[in-house]
Amino acid sequence: SLNSLKDTFGRQITYLRLSVTDRCDLRCTYCMAEHMTFLPKRDVLSLEELERLAGAFIDRGVKKIRITGGEPLVRRDIMTLMARLGQRLEAGELEELTLTTNATQLSHHADVLKSLGVRRINVSLDTLDDRQFENLTRRNALSKVLKGLDAAQNAGLKVKINTVALKGVNEHEIPAMIEWAHGRGMDLTLIEVMPLGEIEVDRVDQYLPLTAVQDRLQRQWTLTPIDMRTGGPARYARIEETGGVLGMITPLTNNFCAGCNRVRVTCTGQIYMCLGHSDRIDLRSALRSDEPDAALGDALDQAMLNKPERHAFDISERGSAPAVSRHMSMTGG
Ligand code: GTP
Ligand code: 5AD
Ligand code: SF4
Repeated sequence: SLNSLKDTFGRQITYLRLSVTDRCDLRCTYCMAEHMTFLPKRDVLSLEELERLAGAFIDRGVKKIRITGGEPLVRRDIMTLMARLGQRLEAGELEELTLTTNATQLSHHADVLKSLGVRRINVSLDTLDDRQFENLTRRNALSKVLKGLDAAQNAGLKVKINTVALKGVNEHEIPAMIEWAHGRGMDLTLIEVMPLGEIEVDRVDQYLPLTAVQDRLQRQWTLTPIDMRTGGPARYARIEETGGVLGMITPLTNNFCAGCNRVRVTCTGQIYMCLGHSDRIDLRSALRSDEPDAALGDALDQAMLNKPERHAFDISERGSAPAVSRHMSMTGG
């Protein structure tokens, strides 16, 4: 029988984050450089390879799959993959199928996603100001994002906004963004910026500890911690005044690695056991070998032995040097 995905610290892996492309139509400054060299198609897993890979994880106890990128909706055959994984959902083999998107293309896909069994999606959005959006993403696309959000909500998808908290950038907009999201029936989660990839801005300059943000918000609002189990790393609170849910993802001020239940696979089939480490195992060569199922099984067993206890991010000591040199766009967060 197949080995379940348990690491040497006793953690069971039930959540796969599967990146389907390294490409994106935006260039968020904390995630990508302006000039990126994207991968040639032969390096990227095909639809069939992605499906087989997802199947291997499902067979070993993964219950939640989140499709990521780059931007997953810029991949042309993405909805075919979603449809095939939707069948695993319908068969009860998966409990959740979802994606994290920048929403620029969401208006074209929202209805189909809903019909495939996707219940909720996470949308990355750091500002509601047109000029600030263009500063941050190097593209003028806020109106497309807002249209995408409307389409998602009209399709009946539950939406969570992910906002990376950036000192001196969107810092002062945070309360307004929370009110906006909650006013529209969306939850919002704040994220501490992590030092990944060579970028043109200094991490220390941008880093805003969420402990400070929380103190500030608590002077204005009443936050009541709630137990919301999404399987992700956020801690949640309800804000009495807005009636909505605020999440906090705090890899730096309060790391959540002890409860880690996830691994990431890039669009080239590299499995990263931790977002904050460079160790990886090549699943693509297993997939492209003569006996893919056996080779994949061996590679996954090996991966579980290598999952580290926690990430190695530490903005304060490392200064602007990234802890991990690959860009976030390779691992999708
Ligand atoms: P839910 O299913 O809604 O709980 O989503 P999620 O938080 O699991 O997924 P999402 O794609 O919204 O992730 C938000 C961000 O959290 C990611 O982009 C990362 O920045 C961060 N994050 C998620 N998992 C980890 C993790 O294991 N380690 C670290 N350091 N950060 C993580
Ligand atoms: N630190 C924290 N979050 C990041 N994201 C991208 N790069 C970083 C980083 N360096 C987030 C995006 C999105 C998700 C895919 O990853 O904002 O919510
Ligand atoms: Fe694209 Fe998301 Fe990275 Fe921004 S954070 S550049 S939207 S992949």
